[in-house]
Amino acid sequence: MKGIILTGGAGTRLRPLTHTGPKQLIPIANKPNVLYCLEDLREAQITEIGVILGDNQPGKVRELLGDGSKWGVHITYIVQGAPKGIAHAVLCAEAFAGDDPFCVYLGDNILKGGIRGMVDEFQTKGYDAEVMLCRVPNPEKFGVAELDAHGNIVSLVEKPKAPKSELALVGIYLLRKNIFPIIRGQKPSWRNELEITEALDELRKHGGRIRAAIVKGWWKDTGKPEDILEANHLLLDDVERRIDGTVEEGAVVEGRVRIGEGTVVATGSVVKGPAVIGRDCVIGPRTYVGPYTSIGDGSRLVGADIEASIVIGDAIIEGPDKIVNSLIGRSVTIRSAGNRLPKGHRLIVGENSTLDL
Ligand code: DAU
Repeated sequence: MKGIILTGGAGTRLRPLTHTGPKQLIPIANKPNVLYCLEDLREAQITEIGVILGDNQPGKVRELLGDGSKWGVHITYIVQGAPKGIAHAVLCAEAFAGDDPFCVYLGDNILKGGIRGMVDEFQTKGYDAEVMLCRVPNPEKFGVAELDAHGNIVSLVEKPKAPKSELALVGIYLLRKNIFPIIRGQKPSWRNELEITEALDELRKHGGRIRAAIVKGWWKDTGKPEDILEANHLLLDDVERRIDGTVEEGAVVEGRVRIGEGTVVATGSVVKGPAVIGRDCVIGPRTYVGPYTSIGDGSRLVGADIEASIVIGDAIIEGPDKIVNSLIGRSVTIRSAGNRLPKGHRLIVGENSTLDL
C-alpha cells in the first residue's frame, strides 16, 4: 500500500498566512500539519509516500520533508501545480501508485486515532474504496455520505445545500487503480475542480464496493483560522509535561507544559498548561502564557499576556495587552503600550509583520 499526501490547493481562507507558504505547513501544537498526516501513514505501515505539490511555494514542502528519511519513509514528489481538484491531484499520482492500493490523505486534515484500523480492514476485505466519515454539525461545508440501515453508502455529494446526513467525508480515502478511468471521465464541478466525492459516487454507481469507517477520536479540517486554533486545543489536551529548558526561580510553570531546549522562563512569569513552548525562546520577565497556547521556536515574549493562541515562531511580543484566540505568523513583532482599558486582541497576522497596538 502506498500513501499520497496532498499539499496543493489555494489556501485562500488562511490568508495572509498562506501568502508565505502552503497551509499544510502551518504548525499546530508546534508541528506542521503535514507531519501529522505522514505519521499516521507511517503508523499504518505505509512508508512509500507520494507528496503532491501545488503552486504555492512548493519548495517549502520539499525543504521540510526532504526525502522522508528523517521520518523513516521514502518520499516521491509529484507536481500538480494549479489546484484543479482533489481527484485531479490523485490522477497526477497514477504512475506513482502503479498497481498498488493507496491511501490519499489531505495534508490539512488532522485525526485523532490514526488510520491503522481502516487500512488493515481495507487490505483484508478487498473493498474497491474505503472512506472515513465524521458526524459534524455543519455537513453542508463538506462532502456528505448517506448510509442505509445496514451502513452501506447510498450517496456521496460534495457540499450539498440540503445534506442527507450529518456524516462528513474526512479527507482520507483508500483507493485502488480502478478510480483512475473514472477520474479521467469526469467534468469539472461548479467550483471548477475534479471532485473526489463525485468520482467515488460514480464508482459506487458502477457497482464499486465502498466501505465507510467512522472516526473514533476527533477530526479537524484545518482550512480556516478557527479550525487551526481548535485543532491546537485538541492536540494540547494530550500534551505531557516535559521541561527541557530553564525555569528561573520565581517563575511558575503549572500543569502539562512542554518547554524545549534552550528556552528560558524568566522570574515573575507564569505559564499555565496545557501549552507548548519550542526551543530557544525567552518567556519573560512579567509574561503570562495561558492554557491552549503554542509558542514556536525562537520567540521572545516580554511583559506579554497571551492565551489560547498559536505563535508560529521567531516572534517578538512585548507589552501587556492581552492576546487571545490568535494566530501569529513567523517573525512577527507585536508591541502594545497597555495604557488603555484592558481588553483582548484577536489577531491573524502573517509572516514578517509588525503591529504597534
Ligand atoms: O477536509 C475534508 C473535505 O475536503 C471533504 O469533506 C470534501 O469532500 C473535500 O472536497 C475537501 O473539501 P475542501 O473544500 O476542504 O477541500 P480543499 O480545497 O480545502 O482541499 C483539500 C486539501 O487538498 C487541501 O490540503 C489542499 C489539497 N488540494 C486541493 C485541491 C483542490 C490539492 O492538493 N490540490 C487541489 O487541486
